[in-house]
Amino acid sequence: MDATIAVLAGDGIGPEVAAEGVRVLRAVAERWGHRFEFREALVGGCAIDATGSPLPDDTLALCREADVVLLGAVGGPKWDDPQAKVRPEQGLLGLRRALGLFANLRPVAVREALIGASPLRPELLRGVDLLVVRELTGGIYFGDKSREKRDDGSERATDLCAYETLEVERVVRAAAAFARARRGRLTSVDKANVLETSRLWRAVASRVLAEEFPDVALEHMLVDACAMHLLRRPGDFDVIVTENMFGDILTDEASMLAGSMGVLPSASLGAPRPGAVTQPGLYEPIHGSAPDIARQGVANPLGTILSAALLLRHSLALPAEASALEAAVDHVLARGLRTRDLAEPGQPWVRTEEMGRAVAEALVGAREDARVV
Ligand code: IPM
Ligand code: MG
Repeated sequence: MDATIAVLAGDGIGPEVAAEGVRVLRAVAERWGHRFEFREALVGGCAIDATGSPLPDDTLALCREADVVLLGAVGGPKWDDPQAKVRPEQGLLGLRRALGLFANLRPVAVREALIGASPLRPELLRGVDLLVVRELTGGIYFGDKSREKRDDGSERATDLCAYETLEVERVVRAAAAFARARRGRLTSVDKANVLETSRLWRAVASRVLAEEFPDVALEHMLVDACAMHLLRRPGDFDVIVTENMFGDILTDEASMLAGSMGVLPSASLGAPRPGAVTQPGLYEPIHGSAPDIARQGVANPLGTILSAALLLRHSLALPAEASALEAAVDHVLARGLRTRDLAEPGQPWVRTEEMGRAVAEALVGAREDARVV
């Protein structure tokens, strides 16, 4: 197939990990005879430096035109001034909003080879395979904000959290469809004992499931309890659906089940384009720009590489290619290759680029195996 992939490397370790995402996608294109065109653009702090805006018009235009977007990470101390009006994160939030990417998929699968890398006990982790579907374009991250100074010099700030029926419906529907294709269980997470937005969320989730997904088992869970159960019995979860901020926090927590934030991918999806084979989406590792380790070649590219696998599966409808890429990652991990974040004390580790090359080579190796058969 032909596809145009916008590559927004961003800041910090973003360029290093994005380069490995591109490398494995090139390997996929070569092995299966696809034609992927990669087009780069600026987002985040580097875009502020070059243009004054974290999401320049050219970047947004490219993302709209491309079939799909692969992103590294944004942000860094250089742009961290709390007084600043323009911040790198606005680029990412603006992009999600402008492209209508309301469903953020964050799968957390514990890879057997990495069980030792998690601080949690192995018996809790074996078989953990959950998917968090985070609402991505609403709630408190996008509500009106205010800040006012009072006469006595103290200040007052507000962030509005708002949700509408339609915003809840579409993300719950997406999550329920994933649950149906997996183990048939959906946990909807809210704070309905306190928040009105959560009471709306809960009512809508119950209705959508009753009307459209009677075969999917729905449970409601309060977010504080969910934070606890994710550590106490992570293997019980199948699909979790929740609002923007809860999803942000719970997925950082859940990432520790997998051993390192460095290995976790994400997909942000919008509504399918009617009649189109490709589905708009933005793919990025869940980790941040990690400025402290930038340009040292020690970042873990697997979160981006696994995001590229999600890109193949969800946006380009290439499930065989996606599974082969995931299998290539498991293969290199089983061989004992580790980046620094995954290495146990005293264990040797490989650099970012070496890990990317190893995955790309495992893909090509798989082609040779296939030919022999
Ligand atoms: C994430 C990040 C972003 C978010 C930040 C960088 C705006 O934490 O993707 O989880 O909160 O969504
Ligand atoms: Mg986050």
